[in-house]
Parts: sequence; C-alpha cells; structure tokens
Amino acid sequence: MQMARDLALVGLPGVGKSSLGKRLAAKLGVPFLDTDRAVIAETGVSHDSVAAIFEREGEEGFRRRERELIASLVAPEPPTGSLGAELGIGRVVALGGGAAADPRNRWALRERAILLWLDAPDNAIARRLRTARVVRPLMNHADPTATLERLRNDRERFYRPGIRLVSSRSPGSLADEAIALVRSHVDSARPLVDATTSSGRWVVGDQIASDALRSVLAERRATRMVLVTEPIAARHVAAPLRDALHSAGIDVIQIDLPSGEAAKELHEIGAAAQRLANAGVERGDLLVAVGGGALTDAAGLLAALYLRGLDWVAIPTTLAAQIDASLGGKTGVDLPQGKNLVGAFHQPQAVIADLAALRTLPVRQLVAASAEAAKVALLGEARLFTVLEEAAPRLRSGDPSLHNDGTLAEIVERAGWWKCRVVAADERESGERISLNLGHTLGHALEQAAGYQNLLHGEAVGYGLRAALYIGRELGVTPVPLADRALALLDALDLGVAPRTESVADLLAAAGRDKKVADSKIRWVLVNNDGYLVRNDVPASLVERAAVAMLAGTH
Ligand SMILES: NC(=O)c1ccc[n+]([C@@H]2O[C@H](COP(=O)([O-])OP(=O)(O)OC[C@H]3O[C@@H](n4cnc5c(N)ncnc54)[C@H](O)[C@@H]3O)[C@@H](O)[C@H]2O)c1
Repeated sequence: MQMARDLALVGLPGVGKSSLGKRLAAKLGVPFLDTDRAVIAETGVSHDSVAAIFEREGEEGFRRRERELIASLVAPEPPTGSLGAELGIGRVVALGGGAAADPRNRWALRERAILLWLDAPDNAIARRLRTARVVRPLMNHADPTATLERLRNDRERFYRPGIRLVSSRSPGSLADEAIALVRSHVDSARPLVDATTSSGRWVVGDQIASDALRSVLAERRATRMVLVTEPIAARHVAAPLRDALHSAGIDVIQIDLPSGEAAKELHEIGAAAQRLANAGVERGDLLVAVGGGALTDAAGLLAALYLRGLDWVAIPTTLAAQIDASLGGKTGVDLPQGKNLVGAFHQPQAVIADLAALRTLPVRQLVAASAEAAKVALLGEARLFTVLEEAAPRLRSGDPSLHNDGTLAEIVERAGWWKCRVVAADERESGERISLNLGHTLGHALEQAAGYQNLLHGEAVGYGLRAALYIGRELGVTPVPLADRALALLDALDLGVAPRTESVADLLAAAGRDKKVADSKIRWVLVNNDGYLVRNDVPASLVERAAVAMLAGTH
C-alpha cells in the first residue's frame, strides 16, 4: 500500500493558508498542522510568537527550527473511509510563508507531500493583511503591497511547482475547488524550482527531464523535435529521454556531436547544420541539447545559426553546465587561436536541470564544478558558503549521500539562481556580470598556459580564486578572516593545492590577453564583506607575486 502523503499548502503570507487548511482537513477527515505554530510550540516558551523568535534568534534561528520540523514530518495514515484515505492524504500542512524558500524543505517534501499553491491577487492579500490580528515579522513597518510584490518576485519560483489555486474569494470557501484540483493533478512529477528568467524558464528537480520537456513540447503543440547530444550524455540521459518521447508520440531527429570539447569546432556545427537541412528541419522545430557545457555551448550555437535561429532548450547533464554553462545565453565554439572565439548570445526557451543526471558524473568533474559554486559563495551567497563547507569532504569522496539528502539540489539551486539573477541584471556583460569573472583572470590564463591539457576549467578556477584572494588580501580589500575562510574551503575541496609547472611569464602574458581588459588594464574582481569590487589599478608586481604563490601552491 502507498504511504499517505501530506497536502502542503504554500503561498504568500496572508493568503489564507491556515483558513483553507483547516477547512480542507475537516473535509478530508485528517489532522491539520500549521508549521509556524508547531515551531512556536517547540520553543517551550509560553505566549511565544514568530516575531519573538525572529527577535531572539534571528531569521536564521527560526529557519533552522522550521527545517528540523519539516524534515521530521511523516503524514499519519488517514482514517479508513475518509476522503483523505481515498486521495492518499494523511494530513493538511500550512507551511509558513518562507518555509518553501528553503531548498532543504522542498527536498524533504518532494516525495512526502503534494504541494498546493494558494494564490490571490496582491490587493486581495493586502486587504486581508491590513485587518489581520497575527503579527508577521516580514510584513511589519511596511506598505503591504510593495512587500508582497518583493516577496512574490523572491518566492514565486518555489510555489510554481505546486498545483495552483488562484482566487480572490475567501480562502475558507475554496476547499471543494482545492480537492477537485488535487484529485486531477495528484500523479504528475513536480520540480523543486520553476522560474521565469531572462534565460528562459528554469526548472530544477529530480527525475523531471522527461515531464518538463513534454510540457514544453505540449505548450508548443509540437509533435517532433531535434535532439542534439553526445555519446556519454546519450547513454546516461538522452537515450531514456528519447524513448520516453517516442512513447509519447513525439518524432525525434537525433544529431550526435563528439563528447567533450571536440564538439566545439566550427566544422562540427557545419556538418550538423547540413544534417538538419537533410532532415527538413524547419524554423518552428525545437532543438533540445542534452549534455555538459561543451555540448550545450555547441548545440546552442547551432540553434542560433540554423535558419537564423531555432528555439532551443538546454538539458544540462554536468554540474558545471547546470550551475553555469547552460545559464546566460552564451553559446560558442573554439578556434585554434583560442577558446570560445566564435559564438552568439542566444537565450534558450528553457533550461531543465535534472539532478538525476549528476549521479553518473565522475567525482573529479563534481569537485571541479564546485569551484564555480565556491565563487558564487564568495560573491555573497552566505548559505551556499556554509553548504559547501559542510559538503566538501563528501564532494571529494563522491559520497552518494550528496544526491540523497538534498545537498546537490541546494548547490544547483543556489549557484544557478545567482547566475540567473546576475545575467538578468546585465545580459550583455556591461555591468554586474563581470563579477562572475572572479577567479577567472588567472584561472583562464592558467588553462591557456597549460594548453587546455589535463586541467579542468573548474580546477583552473580553483587556482584563480586563490590568486584573487591573495591580491585582495594584500590590497586590504579582502578582510583576512574572509580570505582565510575561503582558502580553508578550497583546501577542503582540494582545489588549487598541487604545485604547477607552468611558467609565470606565460601566465602573465595570457592574463594580459584576457577578455576583461579595458584600456590595457586588467579589471580584477576582488571580494570583500559586502560582495565584490572591481579594481583596474592592481600593481604588476603584486599580480606577479600572486601568480608565483599560486603556481607554487603556497598562499
Ligand atoms: N556558455 C557559458 O556561459 C559557459 C560557462 C562556463 C563554461 N562553459 C563551457 O562549458 C564547457 C565545460 O563544461 P563541462 O565541465 O560540463 O564539460 P563537458 O561538457 O566537456 O563534459 C565533461 C565530460 O562529462 C561527460 N558527461 C556529460 N554528462 C555526463 C553525465 N551525466 N554523467 C557522466 N558523464 C557525463 C561528457 O561526455 C564529457 O566527457 C567548456 O567548453 C566551457 O567553455 C560555457
């Protein structure tokens, strides 16, 4: 017999989750739990409130308590003969307004709960908030409409995977409608995140690729698509995906590129374009790229060029591609003269990051990609910093618990969202996007000096991050405790530790040719306690010392 699940209500503060939740529980004949109240009860302080816990323990303290509570939730068996038993629902849970924002909570609930997103127009919610008796810490001292708009922008991507019930009617009157909706949607696979970004729709989840892609195809009423992949990603991800699509009646034209960087050659794009022409691919056909960053870069460029642009979807299958390469719309191939020298900005319609793909990834790839996540942590993603510190030993050993306890899901969500946010603010790289170059100035230079042999991009970034920390610390930009903490994280990940044999002269020459040079001056991204700043006045002697220390593996 299938275990009973919770019916978890998510939505903005004040939307009426508790009112609807109580009514739903009564109709289903199951208990009701309000996580805010349960957290308060756990503190053991009489007359406690969410606001009081925020004041005493900070928001982080409250969220920690909330996370522990949600991790421990197991729905009770519904009474025999109840509507709950018929639908497999053992309890109704109203999740606090911010609970769904925590990746670990959504991970814990993904199989144990059905998510119902209760939504209403902002003016209806604001009206309710003005007359409510409950004190909500995030709503105090603020114009509710502006706060609601901000919260909606911040959180809607976490609510959207839920079954959506939108109405301006009083929440208590919506129970029958909610039950009908749940009944018709109960079996569909649901992602952890579903966001609308400037890089298209961004969907993250576990074993979601097939359902998410089919929903994109259904929206376009498409009955065929072009699948571009490479042999390794095909074996692990694309082949089962193609079979699932075939069974759903979708005609798949498959184009195979070589694995790894060999896909990023102009003649491969030319040959693939000819195959598209021979197969009669038209403007309206969707191109779906399944593979690591090299594959999505090359297939994205093919999509940009063929018939002056096909719509495309990226299904990144490596950690590097999920948190970096597939986001931002940069596509391209290499020339003998250098990497990524021919390319185009061509945003995908959707990026579908299926965490299940990462299970077959070699540990070395996982650790190298962690350098890009560490970069985001250093730029100011405070929780990601802690997650990486906790995960570092397990990342190095490829511990399978990373996949099972939501750690990798949280790394992908947080690092990926950071990039989506920065790209949205600066699509064409004229402002904030330069921050993503942290660690890349000497990192790229090292890759070049090494002739792109035996060194993964993320591994090179690990060295580059150390050099940027060295320079920042020497200039007094990066506080010593922050630099020490960052270096300890890189040590724990074993990134940038082993001495290198490349020459300092080659490295400095390559750094001078870097793309982030303006008026012949290198623009260095350096970190401080507020995030980062850009300096173009770093003395050459200091850069040289940083390069020497970096190559020697001393810091
Ligand atoms: N467009 C951008 O903004 C951007 C940003 C960063 C990096 N990049 C590019 O990304 C590329 C690096 O990406 P990468 O690190 O993903 O390398 P990659 O694409 O070369 O993949 C690494 C290896 O992993 C294999 N692989 C792919 N999926 C797998 C899976 N699920 N299980 C096991 N093996 C799998 C591939 O076959 C390949 O051999 C570089 O070309 C870089 O220039 C682009």
